[in-house]
Amino acid sequence: MSGVERDKERITKFAEHFTPEDLAFESLDRSPKMAQPGEIVLDPFAGDFTLLCSVVWRKIENGMIYTDALQEVRSGEYHIDNCLVGIGRLYGPGKIETLQGKDIPENMKSDGLKACFKHEGKLLENHVACDSFVYDFSFGKKQIFGQGLFTIG
Ligand SMILES: C[S@@+](CC[C@H](N)C(=O)[O-])C[C@H]1O[C@@H](n2cnc3c(N)ncnc32)[C@H](O)[C@@H]1O
Repeated sequence: MSGVERDKERITKFAEHFTPEDLAFESLDRSPKMAQPGEIVLDPFAGDFTLLCSVVWRKIENGMIYTDALQEVRSGEYHIDNCLVGIGRLYGPGKIETLQGKDIPENMKSDGLKACFKHEGKLLENHVACDSFVYDFSFGKKQIFGQGLFTIG
């Protein structure tokens, strides 16, 4: 995807080789359940969000409205510049703000989190810049397990 400067060292270190769009659609043809309404799809190494854009597209083809389909995809990606490209592709034109450090809402803060984003003033709770080997993918929500004995977040 255009707009991001990536030197050779970064590409190698972070394996920044993105899936071409036609291959993403082919993968969904082989795993059609992923794009069914109600299926939540997380790409923890989201790159420029090609896979997630394809999922949203297919969910719409499967009868969902765009805004509902958007609610069913989640991402983590190390590089903020990649996140900005991906969010632009998913949400369309509009102002994207990057929230870092003290600007990150308290409930979103978690180990491994680097940044959150707003699109047109609205916090995007499903997409974060993070180290996916560390982040718990709680996306600001408490995780309840052990029949309510334990919560994280
Ligand atoms: C092979 S690409 C895959 C991108 C996308 N899923 C695709 O299929 O086009 C791997 C992505 O993972 C990101 N990445 C590498 N290490 C990461 C980490 N520790 N946490 C989050 N993202 C990471 C890279 O920046 C890169 O965008």
